Amino acid sequence: MKQKLTELKEKTEAGKLGGGKDRIAAQHKKGKLTARERIELLMDLGSFEEIGAMVIHRARDFGMDKQIIPGDGVITGYGTVNERLVYVFAQDFTVFGGSLSETHAEKICKIMDLAMKTGAPVIGLNDSGGARIQEGVVSLGGYADIFYRNVMASGVIPQISAIMGPCAGGAVYSPAITDFTIMVENTSYMFVTGPNVVKTVTNETVTSEELGGALTHSSKSGVTHLTASNDRVCIEKIKTLLSYIPQNCEETTPAASYEINDERRPNLNGIIPPNPQQPYDMRAVVTNICDADSFFEIHPDYAQNIVVGFARLGNKSIGIVANQPASLAGVLDIESSRKAARFTRFCDSFNIPLLVLVDVPGFLPGTDQEWNGIITNGAKLLYALSEATVPRITIITRKAYGGAYDVMNSKHIGADFNFAWPSAEIAVMGAKGASEIIFKKEIAEAKNPKEELLKKEKEYADRFATPYLAAERGFVDEIIEPATTRLKLLKAFAALENKVAKIPKKKHGNIPL
Ligand code: HXC
Repeated sequence: MKQKLTELKEKTEAGKLGGGKDRIAAQHKKGKLTARERIELLMDLGSFEEIGAMVIHRARDFGMDKQIIPGDGVITGYGTVNERLVYVFAQDFTVFGGSLSETHAEKICKIMDLAMKTGAPVIGLNDSGGARIQEGVVSLGGYADIFYRNVMASGVIPQISAIMGPCAGGAVYSPAITDFTIMVENTSYMFVTGPNVVKTVTNETVTSEELGGALTHSSKSGVTHLTASNDRVCIEKIKTLLSYIPQNCEETTPAASYEINDERRPNLNGIIPPNPQQPYDMRAVVTNICDADSFFEIHPDYAQNIVVGFARLGNKSIGIVANQPASLAGVLDIESSRKAARFTRFCDSFNIPLLVLVDVPGFLPGTDQEWNGIITNGAKLLYALSEATVPRITIITRKAYGGAYDVMNSKHIGADFNFAWPSAEIAVMGAKGASEIIFKKEIAEAKNPKEELLKKEKEYADRFATPYLAAERGFVDEIIEPATTRLKLLKAFAALENKVAKIPKKKHGNIPL
């Protein structure tokens, strides 16, 4: 018995060293922490319990029978982050490049199953060369076992992926299905096929960084939601993200109680510029409305014409979707529609109320948009918001034109409260475009067409480019002084706290993907 325990201890110690001291040193030299160090940083001190430290692979070909490393390249287990239970796996690049074997996959599946049974988030710290090449189809099967669980867990428990090294081949699809991806700058990349294959197939010459680095995926593809300058910052961002989200779809995010106090925010009265064509930063509206320093932006570098992120209002977590007039005048296009739709669906899955801030001149016109499917992609946001049953409140700060008025959480698609600032302009289109169409004849026949156009434009703007017509119809519940927005929202979200809304019984909807 004693001998067995000594053997076990030796194996565990060996497993803790992963691929050995030299490989750990090489990992550090690249600016990367080891899998074990990452877990230690993530978890509350002493809370981590490892599962499967003795697991070894079953491969016998290509000399693998002589290379047995306990744990098989992934550390799995559970523990707490800020006293809340999470399950975690961390791939160990020092062991066969963190590649995924049959048993490596089994270990990940085991903690995913436990997380599902216990209703706790799963955090994956990815650092992997993809399928273990020496194992063939059993490794591919292992990936599929994980993908299947990612899909089954989607909308049940939050899933967060950190990309902390190379993630090639199969290693990218699991993160893609999870709710949030965070990439470490300069040391991580994600691609289905690497630069060598790209060169062979398409004759393009591209570096790993250009093809699938953090900058590429945060700004061009949108595959990653966040980036971090190093491993430590990455782990901090995971912890911050977790603080806004509940443990599972049956719960709400824990929040400290809050007493309404002086909630006026006079700064909000001065944000909208006098000239309606002038941009302003919608983030200033968000930060003035929400609790101090609570705004945590998601996807900040991608589709910047829409802003999405989490914040707290009276200590309670909310999701924000906001047009951004400072980028492309806040127009809705393919990328911004997709970005906002996915974020909306996350919030709705996990009972996070939605605040939608509107200043949108419409959908972006042009062949590029039409040929690449602005119709289907714009419909994603329309679908996602229409389907959302969480409390939903809209504030129209300035423009709400055309179809974009409907899409941006209008009363018609199920918003609970719709407020407008006096600066709101709610109409089919801008006054100039509208006048050019409906007064075409009068303008053409006028002695001075330019003057006539200006006159008609003013007539149209006075009548339609205001919130009053919408308020008369009840499409807007109240026109509010901007400075009172925070108070209005605190009260309105409190009134919606026990909201119960059901969508018709169905297997699942068919969102225009
Ligand atoms: C087995 C692997 C491995 C793999 C790396 N290693 N990837 N072992 N299977 N997939 C091993 C290397 O042999 C090496 O072992 C050690 O890990 C470190 O790798 P290096 O190449 O020295 O490191 P680096 O230069 O940093 O390059 C990292 C890398 C590169 C970019 C990840 O290793 C690489 O391109 N690997 C292959 C990527 C790939 O094509 N994977 C399969 C994709 S197909 P030693 O002992 O020499 O140190 C796939 C299908 C799934 O995943 C599909 C499901 C949908």
